[in-house]
Amino acid sequence: MEPLGGWKRTHTCGELNRSHVNQLVTLMGWIHRRRDHGGLIFVDLRDRYGITQIIFDSQIDSKTYERARQLRNEFVVAIKGYVRQRPAAMINPNRSTGEIEIVTHEIKILNEAITTPFPIVDQVDATEENRLKYRYLDLRRPEMQANLILRHKLYQLARNYFTKNSFVEIETPYLMKSTPEGARDYLVPSRNYKGRFYALPQSPQTYKQLLMVAGFDRYFQIVRCFRDEDLRSDRQPEFTQIDIEMSFVEPEDIYAVMEGFMKEVFQEFFQENLKTPIPRLTFAEAQQRFGSDKPDLRFGMEIATVTELVKKTEFKVFRQAAENHQIICGICLKNGAGYSRKRMDELNSYILETGGKGLVQIKVSENGWDSSLSKFFSPTEILALNQAMQASPGDLLLLVADESEKAYTLMGSLRLKLAREENLIDKDKHQLLWIVDFPLLEFSPEENRYVSRHHPFTSPMDDDIPQLAEKPAEVRAKAYDLVLDGYEIAGGSIRIHSRELQKEIFKVLQIDAQEAEQKFGFLMDAFQYGAPPHGGIAFGFDRLAMLLAGRTSLRDVIAFPKTTSALSLMDNAPTTVSPVQLKELGLILEKSVADQE
Ligand code: AMO
Repeated sequence: MEPLGGWKRTHTCGELNRSHVNQLVTLMGWIHRRRDHGGLIFVDLRDRYGITQIIFDSQIDSKTYERARQLRNEFVVAIKGYVRQRPAAMINPNRSTGEIEIVTHEIKILNEAITTPFPIVDQVDATEENRLKYRYLDLRRPEMQANLILRHKLYQLARNYFTKNSFVEIETPYLMKSTPEGARDYLVPSRNYKGRFYALPQSPQTYKQLLMVAGFDRYFQIVRCFRDEDLRSDRQPEFTQIDIEMSFVEPEDIYAVMEGFMKEVFQEFFQENLKTPIPRLTFAEAQQRFGSDKPDLRFGMEIATVTELVKKTEFKVFRQAAENHQIICGICLKNGAGYSRKRMDELNSYILETGGKGLVQIKVSENGWDSSLSKFFSPTEILALNQAMQASPGDLLLLVADESEKAYTLMGSLRLKLAREENLIDKDKHQLLWIVDFPLLEFSPEENRYVSRHHPFTSPMDDDIPQLAEKPAEVRAKAYDLVLDGYEIAGGSIRIHSRELQKEIFKVLQIDAQEAEQKFGFLMDAFQYGAPPHGGIAFGFDRLAMLLAGRTSLRDVIAFPKTTSALSLMDNAPTTVSPVQLKELGLILEKSVADQE
């Protein structure tokens, strides 16, 4: 190991080209690859800017050449040498530095490295577990560096855009009051007040509303949120939002500002001129046409509801379902009639596993249907169904009969599965849409009460307020989600700013006055001092970065992510703590838990 000893880097490993030929340069970086041709050693030197080819020639400098023989992958070195143009046959057009190489005269080995558990290359054949455990090595890989640099650009673009649109960036506390709603809170015990807990914010929702009461008018924050919920590839226990709130606004004002932001995002990351306004679908329509509240519109295969057409047929499954107020709906897979029995069984099993009762599959042929079911349908019924589902000979019809919401959800997930498996999605295309008119409430069978779909501060539609007491399920909210390529990238709403209406909502949610006071009293109090009408939205920053980077896992755009079971494999968090720490906090572990340790 040698000290830098006054050496200064003159260029990065991604910078040199023909214009630098004959210059004496000093480069520093990691040994990416080393090839020993006996008397001549070629080294690829890597830093985050690129890779430069370095040559150690025993004829030119035998001492330096001898030292280069000790080099191994991932050693950290500094070299001094002259830039030389490569012979035409040796030019590497895939590298920005591909026209030159450095003939080394001096080397310092700044640090050695033991063999890495996986090679530092893009097409790495390492398990996800190893990648997370040795995250600092995974992050050396050029594609991971590109992902994090993309993320950095997105922070800057967001800060810039919202700042120039008069938004003020304000930080809100990470240690806050626990007001569980939605996901479970992460709790932090208080040492000063034993037996009391802070909660880590699931989002800064209440703070940003208070900032509107405080008169900040337009707020934004790039902020970490914490949710103890079931994880998947697009959910992390701690994740980042671009959190936004605005005063004196209606949904249209929010859409306009967010569309301006997305325009800049599309320009910067997709080099695409996004056409606005972004299309909108109501929640109900999205459900019926795509079986999802975050539909991917980059392909068709829309769901057709055919209950009316089939309710009187001889086919008992459909007839009985209709009699029981269920619906029959389906999709048409173009050119799917060639599917094998095995493949059709597989699709049926998928529907059964997803909670359905079975999948009706009909191959459409020149003379009607190539299916044992055709005997239950009249030629007119077959024609009508083919027409409703826009089926042509060679297509495959896939139908289910079930409760309406279930039937649409089943078809929605089958639609997506088939599109992925049949490669129907053009990955170079990007499609944004707003989902609007969400229901305000949903019934929770476990709690036997209505709960907020979004959060309890969401404003109902003015026209629907009279329905609150009688038909709560039909009340629509001033809530909206922004969807990109089948992912919910943002969600928000106009808030209730009237104390009276808020009280009424708490009543519908069966949150009594005492509980409301205890949980949200501070917000309700603030609303007495002149709260402006306000609303906002929050972008899932990681999800947006993931889609912009063309990835399907949030872990690829987060420097130090957790596994889907919320573990940090690098430092093993969460870990046990010492009895002293527990005592200081006034905590005792349950015996069964303590015994496990
Ligand atoms: P919401 O709960 O819809 O709204 O969250 C906003 C956006 O955050 C992203 N998101 C997540 N990303 C990664 N991992 C998670 N576990 C996770 N959960 C949510 C999604 C989502 O669209 N306070 C409100 C916003 C508002 O009303 O203004 C809120 O948090 O992309």
